[in-house]
Amino acid sequence: DRSAPLRISVIGTGYLGATHAAAMAELGFDVIGVDTDPTKIAALERGEVPFFEPGLPELISRHVETGRLSFTTDLRAAVQASDVHFICVGTPQHPSSHAADLRFVDAATRAVAESLGHDGLIVGKSTVPVGTAARLREMVAATASPAVHAELIWNPEFLREGLAVEDTLRPDRVVIGGASPWAEERMRHVYGTAIAAGAPFVACDLPTAELVKVSANAFLATKISFINAIAGLCEKADADVSVLADAIGYDARIGRKFLNAGLGFGGGCLPKDIRALMHRAGELGAYSAVKLMQQVDEINMDQRQRVMDITLSALGGSVLNARVAVLGAAFKPDTDDVRDSPALNVAAALHLRGALVTIYDPAAGPTAKRIFPTLSYADRMDDAVRGADIVLVLTEWEEFRAADPARVGALVERRAVVDARNCLPAESWQDEGWAYWGLGRLGTA
Ligand code: UGA
Repeated sequence: DRSAPLRISVIGTGYLGATHAAAMAELGFDVIGVDTDPTKIAALERGEVPFFEPGLPELISRHVETGRLSFTTDLRAAVQASDVHFICVGTPQHPSSHAADLRFVDAATRAVAESLGHDGLIVGKSTVPVGTAARLREMVAATASPAVHAELIWNPEFLREGLAVEDTLRPDRVVIGGASPWAEERMRHVYGTAIAAGAPFVACDLPTAELVKVSANAFLATKISFINAIAGLCEKADADVSVLADAIGYDARIGRKFLNAGLGFGGGCLPKDIRALMHRAGELGAYSAVKLMQQVDEINMDQRQRVMDITLSALGGSVLNARVAVLGAAFKPDTDDVRDSPALNVAAALHLRGALVTIYDPAAGPTAKRIFPTLSYADRMDDAVRGADIVLVLTEWEEFRAADPARVGALVERRAVVDARNCLPAESWQDEGWAYWGLGRLGTA
């Protein structure tokens, strides 16, 4: 029945799935979120989200209340009660290689195909190596009952942490891979609000859709490593990479975004995605892509060592027993996520070398503590910097940008600051007598 409203199931209620489910409910659809973890499901039903994402708990609570959003561990019942099934499970890095671990995607897709009681559209959203969707499509054809029309398409997701709700409700573009006219019509309906608001709708084949996702992240990562490579050159040449980035960024073909030199990228996506791309490109014999991604990854990791080296030389060659205040643990500001966090990585490395490290982060302290329980944490910035021999700013939280160098200076033992995100007003810190090191800025070489 074409006039009946589409009902949606979302398989996997992690970061991507929980946000997608809530956003679809907000757009007016009836949505069931499915997860294998009963405690997660129970928490979501109470509007509790196990991660920090502005606006998401409120959105979930609201639509659990309106009745448009529910959660279950019963995948079969959810699939039979809906028409479009989004696969939103994780694709972590494989434990023993750079490849993506596809166990969850495979299992979820198979379970949906087996459960279909009427025509169903299976929409892959997880980030997968190119070629996965075609394989899953064959699996769906072999698994679903011949009595139903089962179709699998790919619809990558581009949401950023901290802006997940906004990005999901108002995407820059909608990309749909491998859709028949029947499937495309359903997707145009699901994304009707975004399309009406002007979001481009890109219909393409399955491999292109899969590659759009990883290419977007690979390009962002490349931009960051590019500016970090130039930062190294700026240091040798006594130039200032921040001014340089502003100046080249005025060229609309280049753009200023993602040209902040510093400690480099981390998080649950960029590092994992470029490694998976490297691995898959190697399998397919696309060696230019392999080489480029290897360099991007290497330059990124070198930045962590660079910050270690600066800290070491600032402390006169040894960090042993030096009191180091680490400001920032999250992989970027406005999140409590510490997955592959460059900040935490540097903090742990300094600790291993015998530094007395105290970490403060406005949101990520508890998550960081779970991963590195042996490090010391402060609940307030003042407690982290008190008595410090050096202050390291490793995540550019507003609280650190806005800090008063005179007030902080009164608390520390020595006025030395490494601004690993180039986020502080260097001159005001220097005016207060601080020795200041940025990355790719005057005075760092
Ligand atoms: C990234 C992409 O931006 C999203 O579009 C994508 O959907 C998402 O991955 C994903 O694949 O799910 P996210 O991981 O939330 O989103 O974080 P970003 O805002 O992209 O930041 C990534 C890292 O780059 C952070 O560690 C940040 O500190 C670093 N970065 C960013 C820089 O070092 N310099 C910059 O100029 C910008």
